[in-house]
Amino acid sequence: MKVLIATDKPFAKIAVDGIRKEIEAAGYELALLEKYGEKAKLLEAVAGADALIIRSDVIDAEVLDAAKQLKIVVRAGAGYDNVDLQAATAHGVCVMNTPGQNSNAVAELAFGLMIMAARNQYNGTSGTELKGKKLGIHAYGNVGRNVARIAKGFGMDILAYDAFPAAVESMRADGITPVGSAEELYGQCDIVSLHIPATPETKGSIGRELVGRMPKGGMLINTARKEVIDEESLLALLAERADLRYMTDIMPVRDAEFREVAAGRYFSTPKKMGAQTAEANINAGIAAAKQIVGFLKDGCERFRVNK
Ligand code: 3PG
Repeated sequence: MKVLIATDKPFAKIAVDGIRKEIEAAGYELALLEKYGEKAKLLEAVAGADALIIRSDVIDAEVLDAAKQLKIVVRAGAGYDNVDLQAATAHGVCVMNTPGQNSNAVAELAFGLMIMAARNQYNGTSGTELKGKKLGIHAYGNVGRNVARIAKGFGMDILAYDAFPAAVESMRADGITPVGSAEELYGQCDIVSLHIPATPETKGSIGRELVGRMPKGGMLINTARKEVIDEESLLALLAERADLRYMTDIMPVRDAEFREVAAGRYFSTPKKMGAQTAEANINAGIAAAKQIVGFLKDGCERFRVNK
């Protein structure tokens, strides 16, 4: 059995070593394809793979067609919007994610971006503090909960909204104030941290309509996905309201325009960095390796995300 790690954005070496240990202990072979850049290289590498460990790498029908022996893909991470689940099911391939394994890393980066914005991107002028500010957590899953935990240390006033009503119980258990709608969350909070997945329902859902409700000096932090943003209406809003700030870990398609329209109030990492820590790489990578071994040896389908 051959397990391929195909990561255009590589894991830390220590994580690859840990994955190798798990895979080889199970008697399987590990192959590594990093920074492949072009899809052609991915198509070539997947040809002999029985199992695949990926990150944000796009696994579509073409990749699945080329991976004739493939039985399982594990997205080492949370969001699996980069995998065509229907095509995987049609190809008889099981798809899993590794929920929770990289959430602390993403949550910590949300605060890195918050402080950077609050301190005017370290330009030497007087900024503000996070203490006492109203933080709105938009979606209360694994990352949202970690954001809440850290925000308590900063002394923030924490509110949250999640489209799934069941999340209210977790909010209450964590001592967070649940609000009844996204509109209310944006309307009340000085800072909103986005943790919604990219789904057909959420794509393009964050723009003027919601962000425009934020109080003066409002700050939107995006460590979720670029696809959830309505870039056109957010750009227009930032042009109109010179008080608003947008910090994102996922470079928008219209990055150049954001830089121009909101200079000093906008920042984007050059590459998504939220989960890019040794700890998150180790946790998610080793979880992925264990899930593959459990699936191939015992048929364990825990964390399967396709039908
Ligand atoms: C996730 O969905 O797990 C995060 O967005 C991290 O993605 P990455 O593995 O591509 O950094």
